[in-house]
Amino acid sequence: MKDAGPQAIHLSDYAPPPWLVETVHLTFRLDPQSTRVLSRIRFRRNPAVPGDHDLWLDGEKLTLTRAAIDGQPLDLVPESTGLRVPAALLPADGFEWTAEVSIAPAENTTLMGLYMSKGMYCTQCEAEGFRKITYYPDRPDVMARFHVRIEGDLPVLLSNGNPAGSGDGWAEWEDPWPKPSYLFALVAGDLVAHSGSFTTASGRDVALNIWVRPGDETKCAYALDSLIRSMRWDEEVYGREYDLDVFNIVAVDDFNMGAMENKGLNIFNSRYVLASPETATDQDYENIERIIAHEYFHNWTGNRITCRDWFQLCLKEGLTVYRDQQFSGDMRSHAVKRIEDVLTLRTRQFREDGGPLAHNVRPESYVEINNFYTATVYEKGAEVIGMLRRLVGADAYDAALRLYFERHDGQACTIEDWIAVFEDATHRDLSQFKRWYTQAGTPRLRVSEDWDDGTLTLTFRQWVPPTPGQPLKEAMPIPVALGLLAPDGTEVQPTVVLELTDPEQSFRFEGLAERPVPSILRGFSAPVILERDQSVEERAFLLAHDTDPFNRWEAGRSLARDVLADMATNGSEPPQLFFDGLRSLLGDRTLDPAFVALALRLPSEEAIAEHLHGQGHTPDPAAIHTARRRLSLLRAQDLAADLGCRYHEMMVPGPYSPDAGPAGRRALRNAALAALSQLDGGARAAEQFYGADNMTEQLAALSALLEIGAGETELAAFHDRWKGDRLVMDKWFSLQAMLAPPDRAASVARTLAGHPAFDWKNPNRFRALIGGLAANAAGFHDPSGDCYRFVADWLLRLDPLNPQMAARMSTAFETWGRYDGGRQTLIRQELSRIEATEGLSRDLREMVMRMLG
Ligand code: PHE
Ligand code: ZN
Repeated sequence: MKDAGPQAIHLSDYAPPPWLVETVHLTFRLDPQSTRVLSRIRFRRNPAVPGDHDLWLDGEKLTLTRAAIDGQPLDLVPESTGLRVPAALLPADGFEWTAEVSIAPAENTTLMGLYMSKGMYCTQCEAEGFRKITYYPDRPDVMARFHVRIEGDLPVLLSNGNPAGSGDGWAEWEDPWPKPSYLFALVAGDLVAHSGSFTTASGRDVALNIWVRPGDETKCAYALDSLIRSMRWDEEVYGREYDLDVFNIVAVDDFNMGAMENKGLNIFNSRYVLASPETATDQDYENIERIIAHEYFHNWTGNRITCRDWFQLCLKEGLTVYRDQQFSGDMRSHAVKRIEDVLTLRTRQFREDGGPLAHNVRPESYVEINNFYTATVYEKGAEVIGMLRRLVGADAYDAALRLYFERHDGQACTIEDWIAVFEDATHRDLSQFKRWYTQAGTPRLRVSEDWDDGTLTLTFRQWVPPTPGQPLKEAMPIPVALGLLAPDGTEVQPTVVLELTDPEQSFRFEGLAERPVPSILRGFSAPVILERDQSVEERAFLLAHDTDPFNRWEAGRSLARDVLADMATNGSEPPQLFFDGLRSLLGDRTLDPAFVALALRLPSEEAIAEHLHGQGHTPDPAAIHTARRRLSLLRAQDLAADLGCRYHEMMVPGPYSPDAGPAGRRALRNAALAALSQLDGGARAAEQFYGADNMTEQLAALSALLEIGAGETELAAFHDRWKGDRLVMDKWFSLQAMLAPPDRAASVARTLAGHPAFDWKNPNRFRALIGGLAANAAGFHDPSGDCYRFVADWLLRLDPLNPQMAARMSTAFETWGRYDGGRQTLIRQELSRIEATEGLSRDLREMVMRMLG
């Protein structure tokens, strides 16, 4: 990495902590303006670090009222980032630190540390929020047992672990499992629970509670059901049992991220807990299931085994995402889930990997760790684990995971530890494989074919483009799953995994009767960009015949992408074969409707821009938008009869169920609706909008109307119906920003920002509008630069209050390098304006500096 400024922290500078913590006793006297936090902490010398050492305690924005060591008062002058106690004052074999600080949760707008959301106290400590609660060695390699007492005039007082007594205005909690401070949590408020229970495989009864604000308890059933299924799945698939008597989940409206895996007390953004058929879409339900599982799975991959330092973030996140993907696949459809995951990877991670923010799955330096909770750490981190499993095989993967849990339970670990477990379990040398953690950028894989007298030779050439700080790359190990199909569609070579290790490698398949069609990178076996000269006919053939569902989808996808790229760059017309391929897919009643719906989804404008850039073109957002709309219309015209048929056929009778089956039918039905709306002026969509008894159908209808420039009345009706529901209103904001016509995007966004319900301090609402606008590719990149200015203004406004959110949203600008000189200048002007702003947060400053290069 290029040095990102003077305060960058480097992996190579890691040093173990000289002082370890045995136990922590915390007492909270809650008050919005002045909460007092009393701490009693038992320190012991780290035997691995010889010599005398000062004690460094992190602390930020704390008012210290007193501190003592073994009862002896100390007169310390805090620095802005913490406190140093000189070694001379520290008894050699350990001591007890006591302190009292005061903090003001009601004034805390950062949503890190202890803050308030609508009268409720709530904490967020990952990555470095605990230091805003009290003085402490706030680093994940310091693990301790916590005992917490909460005093406050609120009905519900929660912390980690098991309950250890409660009375009027107080409660105590005891967490028997040593944990780093980032997993600490406290919640206090007027909350109600939706409860259940779970009995673990070895017979432990666990009380399950989902805590929400009164009125929301009717929207928790799906979250609870997902939790129970997650607990059972982790026992069955990974042999992991839950280890406390209670498991609490709290839903909070003001939360920067999705959710947080605090030990025994997960805290969730309410959008990933609350659901009812009328207010949540199928997608919302799927997200709830996935995120509930993700946080639960962290109990082992993250909490019992944690990270030594924040550079190792992917150790817990990549693995836990991989586990939640497996879970969702088991609960739903593996084929559909894989396609969805690859879509996410390509949309978010390939974009990141191909721009100025590219970084290793395990970064080597950072200024602000909050800026590294990225698609690369999470999604590419999960892909790396999927590759590892493919390379060693499912049984060896299971054996390696057993060894991982056995060897490292209770420890704070590194990627080296993780790789060593796989090497020891499989006796393979994984040193080259480690490059997936230490080299950034998406590898490109070029395939050429040679057919000669019954022998097919495939030659692969790989190339990893330079990324910031990494001009030269070494060859990656790439597992390529591959099969061969005969011209009649039969599979003559079932899936094999080729292991590429060199810059160029050839593989021969002999004794073939006829020239086969290769199906390459089945299941998307590696996170690479495959480059292949392939005829439209061959793609159509794979779309019709591939036995691998991912590659069947991919054939249609790459065809659509190329058709769109041609239309956008030279105004060509789509080939009839494209429509014919889709027609046979649409007519195939043996296919899962969810799969067909995905196959009908055209690549996003963003995806086409990225592809064109990769091909050496300068993408024109307006031309891409026009081409995509035109293809969508031509397709609707060509397939009108078939779409109409499917629209009726896919009606889901009876009461709403969020299960994969009915959700897939609705997905196909709504895809047909969006297409047909271009032909019928929105008549069907309006009918569906007013007749819908669930949010999936209602929102899809509204979206279909907005896409054809209609829907004013319905937008107003939707607003009136849902103005009291904050999660539904987020949809109202984001849909309008996302679907505004390009030349009106800025004015629509300005109007929305002036709406009384635009509560910009709420992260979900801010993301709905600003993120929605950034997702409106042609609108955001309107040549006037209006949207660039609008977004930059809002980032500057949010930054002093919530730097973490401002920094995350600034990634709207990360693709500037793809575009023409005019747009580049406009975006860089905005980035420079932000950079030049006095008092900018470390978070946003780092992002802007990296983007400017
Ligand atoms: N650790 C959380 C997760 O992935 C994400 C998170 C990071 C939440 C930082 C809050 C703050 O499950
Ligand atoms: Zn996570």
